[in-house]
Amino acid sequence: MAVVSLQARCVFLGAPGAGKGTQAKRVAEAVRLAHISTGDMLREEVAAGSELGRQAKSFMDGGKLVPDDVIIRMVQDRIRKPDARAAWILDGFPRTLPQAEALDRSLSGAAALTHVIYFAVPEAVLVGRLSGRRTCSKCGAIWHVENQPTKKPGVCDRCGGELLQRSDDRPEAIGKRLEVYRSQTSPLLAYYRDRKVLREIDANRSPDVVYKELLKLMQ
Ligand code: AP5
Repeated sequence: MAVVSLQARCVFLGAPGAGKGTQAKRVAEAVRLAHISTGDMLREEVAAGSELGRQAKSFMDGGKLVPDDVIIRMVQDRIRKPDARAAWILDGFPRTLPQAEALDRSLSGAAALTHVIYFAVPEAVLVGRLSGRRTCSKCGAIWHVENQPTKKPGVCDRCGGELLQRSDDRPEAIGKRLEVYRSQTSPLLAYYRDRKVLREIDANRSPDVVYKELLKLMQ
């Protein structure tokens, strides 16, 4: 069911917990495009104990953004890889104006962004989503203790892996992440609105309803 253009080059924009990762994984499984999540890439670096992971960990655990130069280099390298030549979803990037400007400079003409989709969710809902999120340590599937529970608590329905809570889903870090979103990332809405590529989706509905509307927007 490949309803999404294979030339799609999308940005999923929204606050922490808005459902960007949940929907990006689902779209990327349904159609052939690369799901590029800067959060997942950084968590892999942390797990591998790399130099980049060591640098990034304290920013991430404190709910702060990793410095722009580090992130921009990481994304530029990633979108040059063969699997990302035709189509991709950027999930969690850009989230500052310098990152958005760097992305614009990296893309030009026919390779420009095709969609920027803003996942709108009230802040009060986000806190509940983040504090109840659980992620599979083996396959990366995203669950929620109430909204999307697994059949057996703590065990992934897909692969049987152990479910873990992200270290930045603690209350202190959640508050900081929402504050950082308001001050540093929300200005991107005006940036992309001015460029007439912004589309908004009411993401405070069930994941299935959001997914169907997302596919329509991306066609
Ligand atoms: P990152 O991993 O990108 O985190 P985030 O943007 O804060 O987004 P989240 O992953 O928290 O939320 P999401 O929108 O993907 O929601 P999800 O689908 O999981 O970044 C982590 C850290 O890395 C940053 O804080 C920063 O330090 C660093 N970083 C990353 N990118 C960076 C960048 N560009 N620049 C600098 N630093 C960067 O859903 C959340 C929960 O809600 C789940 O439990 C899910 O099951 C549930 N849910 C989803 N959809 C629904 C729905 N429709 N209804 C009910 N529940 C739902």
